[in-house]
Amino acid sequence: MSDGYYSSKKTDDICEDVCGKQDSRVALSMSRLKCILRGLDLKTYIFLFVVVPLGVFGLYLHGQKISYFLRPLWESPPKPFHIIPHYYHENASMETLCRLHGWGIRESPRRVFDAVLFSNEVDILTIRWKELYPYITQFVLLESNSTFTGLPKPLVFASNRDKFKFIESRLTYGTIGGRFRKGENPFVEEAYQRVALDQLIRIAGIENDDLLIMSDVDEIPSAHTINLLRWCDNIPPILHLQLRNYLYSFEYYVDNKSWRASIHNYHVGKTRYAHYRQADILLSDAGWHCSFCFRYISDFIFKMKAYSHYDRVRFPHYLNPKRIQDVICKGANLFDMLPEEYTFKEIIGKLGPIPHSYSAVHLPSYLLNNADKYKYLLPGNCQRERG
Ligand SMILES: *[C@@H]1O[C@H](CO)[C@@H](O)[C@H](O)[C@H]1NC(C)=O
Ligand SMILES: *[C@@H]1O[C@H](CO)[C@@H](O)[C@H](O)[C@H]1NC(C)=O
Ligand SMILES: *[C@@H]1O[C@H](CO)[C@@H](O)[C@H](O)[C@H]1NC(C)=O
Repeated sequence: MSDGYYSSKKTDDICEDVCGKQDSRVALSMSRLKCILRGLDLKTYIFLFVVVPLGVFGLYLHGQKISYFLRPLWESPPKPFHIIPHYYHENASMETLCRLHGWGIRESPRRVFDAVLFSNEVDILTIRWKELYPYITQFVLLESNSTFTGLPKPLVFASNRDKFKFIESRLTYGTIGGRFRKGENPFVEEAYQRVALDQLIRIAGIENDDLLIMSDVDEIPSAHTINLLRWCDNIPPILHLQLRNYLYSFEYYVDNKSWRASIHNYHVGKTRYAHYRQADILLSDAGWHCSFCFRYISDFIFKMKAYSHYDRVRFPHYLNPKRIQDVICKGANLFDMLPEEYTFKEIIGKLGPIPHSYSAVHLPSYLLNNADKYKYLLPGNCQRERG
């Protein structure tokens, strides 16, 4: 009877009496059970039958949050970037701007290639290409009939190509068949598509010393940043771009920590298209990164399924259109996740919804010039169409 189930000496004694008088084995074990149950006081019952199951259920619901919250304990932040200041004013000459950055000025600007893997972001692609249009030699776009998660996907660019007549003469468009491997890590399909994109960039005619922008469609460098880099001499061979992070629209400014976009001084045989960290230098305030900036609720659902982090859709109700609409208007998290940060201070600072921003200053010019068409991206317009 001394198996640790008893919470107090007193109940132990009572059971000693009852249990001592049994002989048959079955009766003995029955009465043991009774003893055990009787031996427990109310608090222990509550603990066993209420607190423990609730705790297990809570872990099931919020395990991910707990592990994210404890992230600072098991993961240290990556080596910080060397951030370089960025100077710009529309009225300052290029010579002045290059000099302020410690760079020389060229006789003629470099050629610039913009290369993206496309999924279904037609609006954001339009805003991107209109922003970059004056400075891009070739727009390179690759699209697959598979998402990174191996779901079949229509060739959305192909069926919207007539919307992009303005760059048609500078477009190198390619398609690639998906591999459709079940249960594979989505990052493998993504890597496969990036290798194909490398070939397409060569086909587009890139040469040594041209500039190549490597970024997702929704990571938009500002036009003046690209103009600066094509005119100045002795810029770093690989430069990451610090972009302002927005979520759902330009109403929700998250932070300025987007760094994955990069610009490369191209070298045949050496430069490889990638979307991870490739150098230590980060140019400050170089554009916008608008994640999940979609017009239709159906696009949110598609993206949540097609996303390389599909495991974040832990419950089917995450894909409910009404819930998605509520989440957007609150500035909350679609996956009910905690902020991905490396220090407790930053996690706590970012808990809860993203505050609304009412500034629409310094946004892509095409967006403001066509505000009626892209209203949903501007402050005060969180309602989305079903699609
Ligand atoms: C731009 O520069 C010109 C000539 O230097 C000056 O007259 C003008 O006021 C400047 N504009 C702004 C907005 O600073
Ligand atoms: C995807 O594209 C490849 C190559 O064009 C084709 O062979 C394949 O049937 C397509 N698959 C789907 C599901 O559309
Ligand atoms: C980035 O944002 C932080 C916090 O809002 C701010 O303190 C910092 O100055 C910003 N950095 C740049 C380069 O804009």
